[in-house]
Formats: sequence, structure tokens, C-alpha cells
Amino acid sequence: MNKIGIIGAMELEVEQLKTQLSQASITRKAGMDFHEGILNGASVVIVRCGIGKVNAALCVQILADVFQVTHVINTGVAGSLNADLDIGDILISKDALYHDMDVTIFGYKPGEVPQMGFREFSADEHLAALAQETCKKVNPGIHARVGRVVSGDQFISDKTVKERLISEFHGDCAEMEGASIAHGAYLNQIPFVIIRAISDKADDSAEMDYPTFEAQAAKHSAALVTEMVGKI
Ligand code: ADE
Repeated sequence: MNKIGIIGAMELEVEQLKTQLSQASITRKAGMDFHEGILNGASVVIVRCGIGKVNAALCVQILADVFQVTHVINTGVAGSLNADLDIGDILISKDALYHDMDVTIFGYKPGEVPQMGFREFSADEHLAALAQETCKKVNPGIHARVGRVVSGDQFISDKTVKERLISEFHGDCAEMEGASIAHGAYLNQIPFVIIRAISDKADDSAEMDYPTFEAQAAKHSAALVTEMVGKI
């Protein structure tokens, strides 16, 4: 039977989902509360992992080991790296990679974890297609596209850094957990997708825009996740 792990880094990214959970039970592990129950008819575990790559990776491993999840969905917000993605729009992952892994000195590509043989962690095509299709239904006024998530332990709020993430990694959005979740899911052979609503443009305006738009953006992403879990 399917059991879907749903990860958000921050409370506002998961709070709406938790209020809709029935038959809920909570297990605390590594400082994280894992809320197990039924969401829109699906068996799920909802968890706020905290910010950054280490929190996200630990969380995926616990979802795999303790809860034996069959799928992982990461919901949340991100900074846009693509002129086609405005604040409020949604990016669904085709793949994810790290922008702060650099072993280029030994011939690896920027972002490549040495000895893995590739740098992009591919999202599950079925989950990505389902997310896209569901988005049209739940958020008909919202523009959604499939693309690349680039992740690192940095809030991107500088035009020059943003330009580097576009030229070196061809990223469509920047955030701080997705690639780590993708990496953990890959190692545990669990299909995953990352769904991120755009809260800012990851440039010099990000510091102003992020606090203004994060809550609304997080709601868009969560609404999509609620609807889609019922169809997995
Ligand atoms: N999450 C939302 N906006 C972000 C940004 N600009 N950089 C990193 N993570 C983010």
C-alpha cells in the first residue's frame, strides 16, 4: 500500500496540510514531528524538516526507515531563476541538483557529488505529470511549469549569484532542501517530486518580497499537494 511522505521545511509550508489530516498520530524523531494519518483518502506522513540540506536529508532517511514511505513530495516556496516564473507561479521538478557542491578542481561538474556519475537527481515522471495535471484543476489561474530545482545552504538574494545559478546550473528556482531530498530519495529508491511556489525573484528584491509573499505561495503549493495525493 502507498504511504506518501510530505516534507516542508517551514511550519507555514505544512500547517494547512496538517489541519486536513484525519486519524493523526505524531512520532517525534531527530527533533521533527512526523504526523501520520489520512489526507484526501491517502495514507501520508507530514513533517516539517527545518531549513537546509542536513535537516532535509535526515528527514528523508527517517521517512524511509521508520515509516517505509513509498513516495516523497516536497512542498514549499522558492526564489525564481526563470523570467517565465513570477511570484505566485509554481515550479514542479523535472530534476534537482546542488549549487553549492564544488569539486570541479578534480574534474567533476559544478554541483556534482563526486563518484556518483551524474549531477541531476531526476524526479519521478509520473508524479511530476500528476502534479502538473492537478495544478490545472486546483489552481487554474496559476501558471505552473516543470523545471530544475537548484538547492544550497544559502538564501539567494543577489543578482550576480542568481545569474551564476542560471548560467552554471540552468536552474529554474532556488531553494534550500530540494536536492537533498532528491538525493535521499534516490539513495533509498523512492520516487519523489518537488513542488515549489515562487515567493521571490532570488535577486536584490528577494529580501522585501519573501516575507510578503511566502504565506500565499506556500498555500498554493499545499493545495496542490492535498489534491494530488488522492490520485497517487
Ligand atoms: N526560498 C524561497 N526563496 C528563496 C531564495 N531566494 N533562496 C533560497 N531559498 C528560498
